[in-house]
Amino acid sequence: MQLYGVDPATVGAAVRILVEEDRADHIDLNFGCPVPKVTRRGGGAALPWKLDLFTGIVQTAVREASKGGIPLTIKMRKGIDEDHLTFLEAGRIARDSGVAAVALHGRTASQYYSGTADWSAIAELRNALPDIPVLGNGDIWSAEDAVRMVRETGVDGVVIGRGCQGRPWLFGDLMNAFEGSAERHQPGLGQVAETVYRHAELLVDAFGSEMMGLRDIRKHMAWYFKGYVVGGELRARLATVPTLEVLRGLLAELDADSPYPGADAEGPRGRAGSPKKTSLPEHWLQSRRLNEAQQADISAAELDVSGG
Ligand SMILES: Cc1cc2nc3c(=O)[nH]c(=O)nc-3n(C[C@H](O)[C@H](O)[C@H](O)COP(=O)(O)O)c2cc1C
Repeated sequence: MQLYGVDPATVGAAVRILVEEDRADHIDLNFGCPVPKVTRRGGGAALPWKLDLFTGIVQTAVREASKGGIPLTIKMRKGIDEDHLTFLEAGRIARDSGVAAVALHGRTASQYYSGTADWSAIAELRNALPDIPVLGNGDIWSAEDAVRMVRETGVDGVVIGRGCQGRPWLFGDLMNAFEGSAERHQPGLGQVAETVYRHAELLVDAFGSEMMGLRDIRKHMAWYFKGYVVGGELRARLATVPTLEVLRGLLAELDADSPYPGADAEGPRGRAGSPKKTSLPEHWLQSRRLNEAQQADISAAELDVSGG
């Protein structure tokens, strides 16, 4: 379970609920979100800049999680921008607070998902924290990328982002690669179609609503069929599919014998966005500690922010 929050008391209470109700085997705190509605209230990737607030949240979360023996980890970015890097200090604070691992996405908040991730920052963090597991994240599109990240940075593990969009089998490929096997899952179009249908069924189950489940599966279509031979008109109808029954019919129109297209199905996928100045609370960058007004805003923000 991943949590996002800007107030130590609220995050602590959330972790306590998860532990007491036995709802998670592992809890992660999200300090990587670059979205304006989150950062302009001091959350996500903006938060580690405030050392007192970051320390308070991580210490409280670790304390509550440890009561149930649940590992607490954090995920973060390099910083707000290249002039306001936070990852080394935040990593040390998290280590000193007792986290089970630290994950670093090698981009700043203002980079969004654009450009290439800076794996050298991941290596730097790995070297700075020799005593806890460090996980690397950014631009892993294949099992080979994951193996290369481990080799180049020395990380203990990797975190997959956009690389698994439309490729849930990437995780199996990673397991094979790390076990030294050259076997990779390279599905033909028929197998992709079956996976899309199963994914849609699971979404319908998860949402408890066919309409909601189908609305969600639409955005996955371009990812699943990237590189495969699918006509433009059929792609358009898949991207607006209303029901499981219609989905079944559309998938039946695909050439199930069409083979894995190779390189066309691989490489970057998902949105990159473009770099933009990160929205922050007023005077956020002036000091590494919260001033009184920011302290008051943080408490109020907790009342009306949802998501991360
Ligand atoms: C649409 C989208 C939603 C995301 N949501 C989350 C999230 O809820 N929590 C999180 O830690 N990271 C989230 N991420 C970030 C990814 O986990 C990852 O850090 C980022 O995409 C960089 O890895 P990549 O270059 O391999 O995609 C999200 C990314 C995208 C594109």
